[in-house]
Amino acid sequence: MRRRQCLAMLAAAVAFGGAQAQSDTVKIGVILPMTGQQASTGRQIDAAIKLWVAQNGNRAGGKKVEIVLKDDGSVPDATRRLAQELVVNDKVVALAGFGITPSAMATAPIATQSKTPMVVMAAATSAITQASPYVVRTSFTLPQAAVALAEWANKNNIKKVVSLVSDYAPGYDAEKYFTDRIVLNGGQVLDKLRTPLRSPDFAPALQKVRDLGPDALYVFLPSGQGAAFMKQFGERGLDKAGIRLIGTGDITDDDQLNDMGDVALGVVNSHHYSAAHDSPTNKKFVQAFEAANKFRPNFMAIGGYDGMRVIYKALDASKGAGGDALLNAMKGQVFESPRGPVLIDAQTRDIVHDMYIRKVEKKDGQLWNVEFDAIKAMKDPGKTK
Ligand code: DHB
Repeated sequence: MRRRQCLAMLAAAVAFGGAQAQSDTVKIGVILPMTGQQASTGRQIDAAIKLWVAQNGNRAGGKKVEIVLKDDGSVPDATRRLAQELVVNDKVVALAGFGITPSAMATAPIATQSKTPMVVMAAATSAITQASPYVVRTSFTLPQAAVALAEWANKNNIKKVVSLVSDYAPGYDAEKYFTDRIVLNGGQVLDKLRTPLRSPDFAPALQKVRDLGPDALYVFLPSGQGAAFMKQFGERGLDKAGIRLIGTGDITDDDQLNDMGDVALGVVNSHHYSAAHDSPTNKKFVQAFEAANKFRPNFMAIGGYDGMRVIYKALDASKGAGGDALLNAMKGQVFESPRGPVLIDAQTRDIVHDMYIRKVEKKDGQLWNVEFDAIKAMKDPGKTK
């Protein structure tokens, strides 16, 4: 009896202490793949979040900010369960992270039900922002990258293409928005190929591409798969067969690019962020990121860094309140990101930014995505039909 009383008192004390601490602390629940096939996404975004906090302090909106990081291993059921726990038990004011589209989609209903702003820092299928009015995106969308590259291809003597995408939602966006635009501009799509998200073997698709002999092979694969693909592309001699490789910048990911070797040289691709982006803001960012982590930031890191900016400024505006006040303060933010100018569209809650055309080049012995053209202030073409 005494023992039970004791335990009850302890529990009450913990609860009381917790409630007290909570009054001047806001928690942000970050769910990322820290293990498994998408672990590089988690590593990059986690490093970017830590850099943001190191540079900007652990206070926003007059409160102490506490980051609660959870590893979902990119398993959507785990993402949803962790989100629920973060909302119910940790009482987070915002959810953030989301390495792949299925994880973001699985969590959207929880954001809606609990009125918790959900900042998507990685996943890039157009429809995610429509899955909940509480979703705000700081990554990019595949239709942005796909349309920008198709416009470049049509103007650069690429007439016949084959597309090859990862067989899940962002792959379908990458395929549709690229091939539709190619055809609209008078080009020809010889085939549309897909490879599985988990443990893909690119050999059968590459053999098919060789046989079809297009002017260019267009590729989207999620972050982390680019190096393995590039190796097989080279080994099968497609580069030497005169088939040009182009793609969304996910395949020339700064996380892996420097180790891809010469097969990556000259690959033209489209994306919102290059570690080589030539601006003082980016130079400062890359320098600080590399000093802290000993690796180069990639496009995932920038989604995490900008996501923290959006959350911190919104907390300042809401004076630390969550819910609709926090969400509304995220809408319409305009700022200079290391990627370039950024707007969070107040209507769509999606990101508007420059979509760059880049070419992989060697500089001082290292491989970089060097930007040579851009579509300025690009909205998600998935939402302006
Ligand atoms: C998604 C994941 C990626 O790693 C990427 O590069 C692009 C999109 C996604 O699942 O949405």
